[in-house]
Amino acid sequence: MISRSTIDRVFETARIEEVVGDYVVLKKRGGNMLGLCPFHNEKTPSFTVTPTKGIYKCFGCGAAGNAVGFLMAHDQLTYPEAIKQLAVRYQIEIEEDQRAHNDPAYQAEKSQRDRLWDLMAFAQQYYTRVLWDHPSGIAIGLSYFHERGLSDATIHRFGLGYSLEQSSPLLDLATQSSFSPEELELAGLALRSENRGHYDRFRGRVLFPIYHLNGKVIGFGGRTLKTDRKEAKYINSPETPLYRKSESLFGLHQARKAMAAAGFVYLVEGYMDVISISQAGVENVVASSGTALTREQAALIHRFADEVTLIYDGDQAGIKAALRGIDILLENDLKVRVIALPEHEDPDTLARRMQGENLKEFLNSNAQDFMAFQQNLLLKEAGRDPLRISSALQVVAASIACVGDPILRAMYIRHLAEDAGIPDASVQEAVVQQFKLKAKRIPSSSASITPAPPLEAVTKPSDEIRDEPPPSPEIQPLNDIPQETEILRLLLLVGNQTMSNTTGGAPISLIDYMGETLLSLSWDSSSCRALLELCIARWQMEGCLPANHELMNHTDQGISTMATRWYTDNPQISPNWDQMHDITVPPPTDNLTKEIETTFDRLLLKKILRHSRIKQIELQTLQQNPAGLDNPSVLTAIREIQELKEAERRITARTGIVITH
Ligand code: GTP
Ligand code: MN
Repeated sequence: MISRSTIDRVFETARIEEVVGDYVVLKKRGGNMLGLCPFHNEKTPSFTVTPTKGIYKCFGCGAAGNAVGFLMAHDQLTYPEAIKQLAVRYQIEIEEDQRAHNDPAYQAEKSQRDRLWDLMAFAQQYYTRVLWDHPSGIAIGLSYFHERGLSDATIHRFGLGYSLEQSSPLLDLATQSSFSPEELELAGLALRSENRGHYDRFRGRVLFPIYHLNGKVIGFGGRTLKTDRKEAKYINSPETPLYRKSESLFGLHQARKAMAAAGFVYLVEGYMDVISISQAGVENVVASSGTALTREQAALIHRFADEVTLIYDGDQAGIKAALRGIDILLENDLKVRVIALPEHEDPDTLARRMQGENLKEFLNSNAQDFMAFQQNLLLKEAGRDPLRISSALQVVAASIACVGDPILRAMYIRHLAEDAGIPDASVQEAVVQQFKLKAKRIPSSSASITPAPPLEAVTKPSDEIRDEPPPSPEIQPLNDIPQETEILRLLLLVGNQTMSNTTGGAPISLIDYMGETLLSLSWDSSSCRALLELCIARWQMEGCLPANHELMNHTDQGISTMATRWYTDNPQISPNWDQMHDITVPPPTDNLTKEIETTFDRLLLKKILRHSRIKQIELQTLQQNPAGLDNPSVLTAIREIQELKEAERRITARTGIVITH
């Protein structure tokens, strides 16, 4: 367990723009910073970071929170993991209760995912140790890398390793360290056969670790050193809970800083290509590990660069293969260039011949615009055959249809028409046709948008709350969160005001009026409940409500997320805005007091209805049991249902609110 003071220090020290900046290229925009949202696929930046508040917020998908929340959502970390990651980054000593750490209950609590992360790190450390320290590792693995021209520094930088030519050295070691064979299998590190049981997946291969953006290993590519082609040249990790091929790029972790600085990236095919080019001084290089590019990978690239330059081998097969992935890049608004290397040359051999500025210069002067490249290639192939020319035109038109920038599209159409010697209008028509075809194939391109990370208390815009569909007859779990969130937003805004119409008696504040009742309800969002308790306690002790800036940095992620959304959705009326900035805002209008009373009544009604539905089901179950009719619980249940009905009638009569059954 991490100590309270460590957590506090982490919150004080972590700078949101630095934490987010590890993953998103941020540009200054006034007091804020702006970038492409890592939580959904977007082309124009709507992801805002506010350093002075320590928060981020995406105006596209609504993702919001503080530095800890960002890491949790982005890297799918638990709260303690995120705290630890930040502590390491900011060199904050982590005070931990050792006893609790060794506690078996705590160990069991650590999720499977946590253990897989640990296991991958364990495996990577083991494989590098073998490479550098084991006689076979040195003689076979290390000398192979040296032969291929890699320096020790490069081998370290990419975390390369070697697996011994034995059945299960990793498995044996890891199981001694409390990992189970099943976990190794799940992590893609072990295989299992009927008669042999578990054994290592990687045996007698040099290993290329594949890193997540967070710098942790999620998979490996293993290259055989045997020249007989009996076994596959590469064996790669399978899909695992940590490693999703379609969402990772080899080398991205090492390349991203250089990508952001240069604004573009070189895309190559092989692990060795990435490493050699990078060692030669061109560090903005990644590979898609031998598979066709996916939308997710294109989006990942776009987070760090606007342009992609594909480098591929001069042979025909290589070019054809590379052309396939390109429309995905164009659709993601990346500019695409192409470098076709001379025959018998690949990026790796090139990087051995040329380094530094020479290499940069060579690459730069050989990069051609993709559209022109494809067009020349296909038109040349088609010769003078009208049918072949027409199908070549369709292919290019399909690519042009992927280009989002209208000016660029118009220029491409002009070039194609010129080169093919046909009118602009015909090309235009072909492009439109292709565009329609594409639209049919992908019913909605927004389907690829990844939803914002699920957070417990997700606020919806208030008009959505009003338009909610009537509850279905079944009990729907967790469907009151929008109302719960809304009542807290309003309580923080006007909870200290007095009730709008106190009939007789002394005036009473809204929070006093509602607090106890709200506390007695069963809450779907534990963060909302915690916030309510905080509000009531603060009100009773200090006569004020918590300020929004305090809530934005609250260690309960649900609370900090809610507060951040309220603040960013509408900073002017965010709770206690005036306290934060010493500015006067007009006193909350009567509207807000009315609104909170209605919201309160509606929430109460909803809770009553749900409770009474649960009771009815209980009652039915009791009554179905023949012996149950005399059961005193039946009578209690009936009485409770009547009371709930009565309460419902009272509220409905007073407010006119009806909730459909
Ligand atoms: P070297 O021959 O060492 O230069 O390897 P390379 O990394 O340059 O690989 P190559 O150009 O032969 O292949 C490009 C990429 O395709 C590799 O990095 C692998 O990701 C993938 N690949 C190549 N061969 C295989 C294979 O047999 N199986 C699988 N799954 N992937 C392969
Ligand atoms: Mn190669």
